[in-house]
Amino acid sequence: MCGLIGYNGSEQAAGFIFTGLKKLKYRGHDSAGLATLDGDRLQYKKDAGKLEEVERRQHISQLPGHIGIGHVRWATHGIVNRTNAHPQLDQCSNIAVVHNGIVENAFELRRRLETAHSFVSTTDTEVIPFLIAQYYNRKGNMLAAISNAIEELHGPFAFLAICRYTKDKFFACAREMPLLLSCIPTGCIASSDANSLPDDCNQAYVLDNGEIAEVTAQNLIFYDRAGNPIEKQPETLMRQIGAIYTNSTEHYMMREIREQPYAIEQSIGQNVVDMQDAARAIKEAQNVIFTACGTSRHAALMGRYLFSRVGKRMSEVIIGSEFKYFSEVISWNSVVIAISQSGETADVLDGVRTARARNAKVISIVNHSTSQLARLSNFVFPLKCGTENAVAATKSYMAQITVLALLSHYLSGHQHDIIQKIKALVPLVELVYETNLKHAESLARNIAKHNVCYFIARGSNFHIAMEAALKMKEVSYIHSEGMPAGELKHGTLALIEKGTPVVAICPDDYTFNDTLYNIEEAKIRGAFIIGVSDKYHSVFDEWFKIPKVEEILYPFVAIVPLQELAYFTALARGVNPDSPRNLAKSVTVR
Ligand code: AGP
Repeated sequence: MCGLIGYNGSEQAAGFIFTGLKKLKYRGHDSAGLATLDGDRLQYKKDAGKLEEVERRQHISQLPGHIGIGHVRWATHGIVNRTNAHPQLDQCSNIAVVHNGIVENAFELRRRLETAHSFVSTTDTEVIPFLIAQYYNRKGNMLAAISNAIEELHGPFAFLAICRYTKDKFFACAREMPLLLSCIPTGCIASSDANSLPDDCNQAYVLDNGEIAEVTAQNLIFYDRAGNPIEKQPETLMRQIGAIYTNSTEHYMMREIREQPYAIEQSIGQNVVDMQDAARAIKEAQNVIFTACGTSRHAALMGRYLFSRVGKRMSEVIIGSEFKYFSEVISWNSVVIAISQSGETADVLDGVRTARARNAKVISIVNHSTSQLARLSNFVFPLKCGTENAVAATKSYMAQITVLALLSHYLSGHQHDIIQKIKALVPLVELVYETNLKHAESLARNIAKHNVCYFIARGSNFHIAMEAALKMKEVSYIHSEGMPAGELKHGTLALIEKGTPVVAICPDDYTFNDTLYNIEEAKIRGAFIIGVSDKYHSVFDEWFKIPKVEEILYPFVAIVPLQELAYFTALARGVNPDSPRNLAKSVTVR
């Protein structure tokens, strides 16, 4: 959830790191801080607040020195305040650490260390510099101190550390959390995200299993968790898509909604042999289980529908955080399909590790090809939609359902048909974006006045209702629920009052007539009906017109106006849609 970046080189480290942190803000943004080494002086500045506010108050980018580590925080342990911001230091302020992850046994470690030291923060992180300092004082060697310290840490982590006694380097260490390292012309860098590496940096080393790196100004030296030297190979990074939409004053969310036709075009191009092999594995498996969270889970629901309707293969969808409770049914004969934009969602990774431990085959549909999820998978289908910065997932969702449409057609052997159909769909997604934009903006001013909003649909459109509700609630803070239209009368109808917005996704497919009954039930109780359809009906108070497409393709066009509606509703309520309160882009904690 937090973002880390470290630099050692010929440039002023703090300025370099500050620029990188700006690109990591989406990972976490309630506090920020930086520490540098200037000769043997360790200096640090940090504060609560957004990165720019912290810079205004503390001038963190001005710290002197050529070695430094920086952090943007999304709080998990300890409230948001200056003391809990990173870097965290040991008691003598000789060692500074920035950290992403959770020290699951922090409480026990604190109790033990507290007998000799006083902690100042309420973070779990603070035990890390304390532990390193304890071992450093015994061994006088940072590498050995880190290696010993991490043996005591439970849970996934990535951290960077500087020590005033090792003034020509900083250290990086990670276990089950992303941490990339690379050499660039002016020095060496470490970051929790490829996004913050310079544009011309196409390769990086990825740390895992508690591996440690010594980062000097000229090179990277790698060690295993016990401190033995190891060789590592660099990996190719996923780069941002060619910035076709470069209006920098625009919110990421809107830009990413608009990039969706491009995301579809990119994601349809998958490795044919891998698709065939994955399809065979799915057909032969005893059970097929999707696992994912949030928006990716909604894509998985679409996957389940496509597998059944197109691929004639039944499957199940289990939310990432619930997966382990179903582990008994997983065996070598299971296929687990994990869907994740980031590939770093802890709940999904937990489930996938459980599946691996039971020898299941893992297929991942993931945007970040250097992510943990990709590493844990037998087959990886990259989304190729470029970096998604807004907290609200939009284009990654579009790419996910594209890959799922393709995979389901590999199951049926009709993959060539779907490739052509999807290509023909691209201009329609563009069209639906353009034609509904102004309407969404004006309608949003009405929706913004309400405290609730319901989204209903049937069949394959049901997951669109769920996804639209998630988009609306996370960026506008309006309580929103998506549900099968037929469920309305089983409880939610009691909440419908005069003017309550009910969005009905009812394209002119096999669901149209049945959904109309449910719309009527809501309408006569006062609901304000917003229809999303290619066919007008007089029951609609407002109508988002979508193009006529084949049944299984409706979700591609139906979601677009609802993403726009959520975006404009956020603006109408004065919320920055790119960084909704309490949320982070990658949820790397359980
Ligand atoms: C989507 O708008 C959300 N912000 C969130 O639900 C997200 O989809 C979820 O956290 C899963 O993330 P992932 O795809 O990176 O695994």
